Amino acid sequence: MTARKARTIAPAEGRLGVLLPGLGAVATTFVAGVELVRRGLGKPIGSLTQLGHIRLGPRTEGRQPRIHEFVPLATLDQLTFGAWDPIPDDAYESARQAGVLEARDLEPIADFLHALQPMPAVFDPQYVSRIQGTNVRRARTKRDLAEGLRDDIRRFRAEHDCHRMVMIWCASTEAYLQPTPAHQTLAAFEKAMEESDPAIAPSMLYAWASIMEGVPFANGAPNLTVDIPALQQLARDRAVPIAGKDFKTGQTLMKTIIAPGLKARMLGLRGWFSTNILGNRDGAVLDDPANFRTKEESKLGVLEYILQPGLHRDLYGEVYHKVRINYYPPRGDNKEGWDNLDIFGWLGYAMQIKVDFLCRDSILAAPIVLDLALFLDLAQRAHLGGVQEWLSFYFKSPMTAPELYPEHDLFIQQMKLKNTLRHLMGEEQITHLGLEYYE
Ligand SMILES: NC(=O)c1ccc[n+]([C@@H]2O[C@H](COP(=O)([O-])OP(=O)(O)OC[C@H]3O[C@@H](n4cnc5c(N)ncnc54)[C@H](O)[C@@H]3O)[C@@H](O)[C@H]2O)c1
Repeated sequence: MTARKARTIAPAEGRLGVLLPGLGAVATTFVAGVELVRRGLGKPIGSLTQLGHIRLGPRTEGRQPRIHEFVPLATLDQLTFGAWDPIPDDAYESARQAGVLEARDLEPIADFLHALQPMPAVFDPQYVSRIQGTNVRRARTKRDLAEGLRDDIRRFRAEHDCHRMVMIWCASTEAYLQPTPAHQTLAAFEKAMEESDPAIAPSMLYAWASIMEGVPFANGAPNLTVDIPALQQLARDRAVPIAGKDFKTGQTLMKTIIAPGLKARMLGLRGWFSTNILGNRDGAVLDDPANFRTKEESKLGVLEYILQPGLHRDLYGEVYHKVRINYYPPRGDNKEGWDNLDIFGWLGYAMQIKVDFLCRDSILAAPIVLDLALFLDLAQRAHLGGVQEWLSFYFKSPMTAPELYPEHDLFIQQMKLKNTLRHLMGEEQITHLGLEYYE
């Protein structure tokens, strides 16, 4: 049953260039993973676009196609990769340093990874103090740096014969920035770029360049980046999809799975203490208090929005929520996240839940990068510009239109994503109304 009219979506023809500011643990795990899958040497576990199905129509019809058969997505064979990094290592060297994938996975694709050399980055140690960069682009003003990035994008497009491109920020978390007047309008933003105002972080220059070149942009870190009125307006004006921010992996993923469950059953929460140990380069950057502050803001908002303490004072009126990240080098990328939840039930009786998640951060993040690349490209071909709220599913701090609050509940986010796909293809929304057999 196709009741609605499908939106016009341009076909996914030709090459899709995936540009990655940051060629560290997440980016190399993503790129290597795609190549391993393409060669039949691995499976894209964790990727909704590759493995997910979507139910269409009433359950009685039994229609459950794969998502990539239902919506016109680029295939993995159509992807080609580019990156910028202040550290000159190629993708093979960087992946070895990151220590996520083992030699048995890297060696068979070593040639492919060596060929991915990072372009000189727009990098400033003022925003990421723990990295020493030598592969860095120099220019007189921030505006000139951003114009240089536009040149890189155009050159990449021509050299790799790309029909379309997307950019996904996989670089380090920048120091905490609050929105200033320079972020409010495009005119103020461009003037601030010309004056090399400290309010303009490198990630904003990548985002501006990306949008100006008509390239959709997603922000995988908690930086402000595109979460400012000036760039959101630019994205709307130019009909370029943007999304952010901070990939939802590890502990926050768990939080947004467990918290909706507690709330669904009207169980109370007194406190939630989360602590992590991790020893990768991201952990070293986050060991700097200025950079941790950016991450902390991103992690703390989640419970407030899911539990709605304003509506449920008895259950969630006094939640004590604390998040800690500890840099502990022996652990490498294999983070351990502990959560202690003090909950209460019938008549206020106390209970506790302990979660010990031995997780691999980049293994959880890589499929998110893939899905975002494919869905942002779909959004552009479907003429959806500006903030793509239906991609909240992938983010710790989902960006929204200014007047809306973010949706953090993973299951609502999933419903929103799938209903958006149904809408694009002219299928009915699934309401889960249980009256099919009674009417
Ligand atoms: N791994 C996860 O599960 C996860 C989850 C959420 C968010 N993130 C975020 O994703 C980002 C990448 O994580 P990672 O583990 O790959 O970190 P990483 O430290 O391994 O890689 C980041 C890379 O970015 C480079 N970089 C820094 N500033 C840059 C700039 N201005 N331009 C280009 N490159 C720059 C660094 O040199 C480094 O190689 C981080 O911001 C992290 O907070 C990761």
